[in-house]
Amino acid sequence: MDAFASEQPPVRHILSSSQFDRAFLDYLYTLTTTIRRFDKSREGLNYLRSLLPHKRAMLYFTQPSTRTFLSFQSACHILGITASEIRDASTSSERKGESVEDSLRTFSSYVDLIIMRSPIARLCERIATMLDETPRPVPIINAGSGPDEHPTQALLDIYTLARSLREMGGIEGKTICMVGDLKRGRTVRSLARLLTNYDGVKILFASPPSFRIADDLRQDLSASRFDFEETTDFAGAIAAADAIYMTRIQDEYEGDNAGAQDYHRYHLRAEHLPMLKADCAILHPLPRRDELDPRIDQDPRAKYWRQERNGMWVRVALLTILFGIDDRVQLPDL
Ligand code: CP
Repeated sequence: MDAFASEQPPVRHILSSSQFDRAFLDYLYTLTTTIRRFDKSREGLNYLRSLLPHKRAMLYFTQPSTRTFLSFQSACHILGITASEIRDASTSSERKGESVEDSLRTFSSYVDLIIMRSPIARLCERIATMLDETPRPVPIINAGSGPDEHPTQALLDIYTLARSLREMGGIEGKTICMVGDLKRGRTVRSLARLLTNYDGVKILFASPPSFRIADDLRQDLSASRFDFEETTDFAGAIAAADAIYMTRIQDEYEGDNAGAQDYHRYHLRAEHLPMLKADCAILHPLPRRDELDPRIDQDPRAKYWRQERNGMWVRVALLTILFGIDDRVQLPDL
């Protein structure tokens, strides 16, 4: 693993799932699985906490979040990083008319990393480019950028899929069914792009017609000759799937909610469980509404609560990579 780690190019920012290739995904899987083993002892956790106590991070979340915020904050704590936060721009000097660019440049004066969620698509890229031209070019992590991207969610989704499907030969060759508001769901966009790194994968996009995937994603998948199908046949799609990725309506964004009245036809209910493959993995980035029946939680195929916990460990691994200390989390017996 040491040799493999040294082959990885440095990661400067985490902005889009398009920046990651298969070698990185395999490395992140191994690194995350290794780091989790430190959680099994007090000595292991003390060691992790000793790695980055000299670093400070800013969590700038101007869109609501529970799990992304808390898992990044916990990941910082696990590595000894001091984390500060702004969760509402109205409590910052943006309220006095300061631009978001000046606001983020100000954070870069005080911290070594900015983790940001914003309703503005591609704001992270703009800030990263701007900071790269300043004397303190701190790394940026995109923790969700409007309806655009959520790359760290996609990385934890891939980790969960790989773990859930490992006894069936992994992600290669599998049929993944994505369901819901595919047009505005940023996790769908980021995950679909990551899945193009795996041979033989097919995605079935099941949604009401008005919630079909956006044109740019359709064009990207077609251009890469990726195998995908868009369908309104929810029952047929879930029955064919090796993994199902449920999503909620993203009605916090502008746009046509006309498909909402059909959404109930794309809900996964306990009554559907007998139709699914015996080893089908059920994922959801959460939070959920009615599209995923809580009665499914007890089914061994439900992986979404594990997915949520996996997110914290994947984010710990990403922080070690960003700060260039991933080679210090090798267990001697691996
Ligand atoms: N999956 C996800 O991004 O959840 P939160 O909005 O709670 O962070």
